[in-house]
Amino acid sequence: MSGFARGKLILAGEHAVVYGHPAIAMGVDRGTRVSLSHCEGPTHLPGGADPRLAAALRLALPPHGVRVDVHSDLPVGRGMGSSAALAVALLRARDGDVPPDALFDAALALETVFHGNASGLDVHIAIHGGAVRYRRGPPREAVALPAPGWSVVVIDTGDAGDTRRMVRDVAARRPSVDGLLADIGALALAVEDALHSPAQLGPLWTRHHALLRRLGVSTPRLDAATDAAHHAGALGAKLSGAGGGGVVIAVPEGPPDALVERLRAVGHDAFVARAAT
Ligand code: PMV
Repeated sequence: MSGFARGKLILAGEHAVVYGHPAIAMGVDRGTRVSLSHCEGPTHLPGGADPRLAAALRLALPPHGVRVDVHSDLPVGRGMGSSAALAVALLRARDGDVPPDALFDAALALETVFHGNASGLDVHIAIHGGAVRYRRGPPREAVALPAPGWSVVVIDTGDAGDTRRMVRDVAARRPSVDGLLADIGALALAVEDALHSPAQLGPLWTRHHALLRRLGVSTPRLDAATDAAHHAGALGAKLSGAGGGGVVIAVPEGPPDALVERLRAVGHDAFVARAAT
């Protein structure tokens, strides 16, 4: 039995979405496949899994008799939704075709064990793919958007972020950061309007990164990656996901492969991510 789920990139609104503001995200052409088979003895998770994630996944499995194999091309802990993709793929492998709402609730319960206070955005994309404007409920609002026709360039800093810790740190700074969170939410709506115009979107992402920096979730390496994207000719760039590590996303001015080449030439780990349903 096997199941597949997509990774995602948050195009705008991370952290603000935890407090009811809108966020924009899209599924990407990368994901996670989980295969379950019978084995003798205790249930076997792949080595190297984050212990908290492993604890969450064990909740979804019997204690004995299951071997779990995972194949993923999502970098782990980089804000690309690898834990939500793993949870959704595991539940699909276990349960087959379940209605999306039931799958959402079950996967969100696993994400919450792992992440603490999860908005459900990652889980939504892992299930549905595509591009979405998402607002945490109740009532939850997920409006499908036409996926951008251009491709995002991703720069992986190589550092893993800890989403649980980042969300907790932001929570500890409230209410003084509430205005900042509202500004990020408002920017998400502007990003939605600019999604099909790289020239308009670029400067919005650059502003968005500055807000996330003020929120305290960027790192010197994330800042350096956004600077490198600008120097390499990107129209704009921002960190994507919880921060504290992870990836930067950039709007290429022309062919995305050319921007990737320029970034690689100065030592960055860059690749193209395409929207996928
Ligand atoms: O770093 P990721 O991919 O887990 O994204 C977290 C996004 C947050 O808005 C910071 C948290 C959430 O649950 O939406």
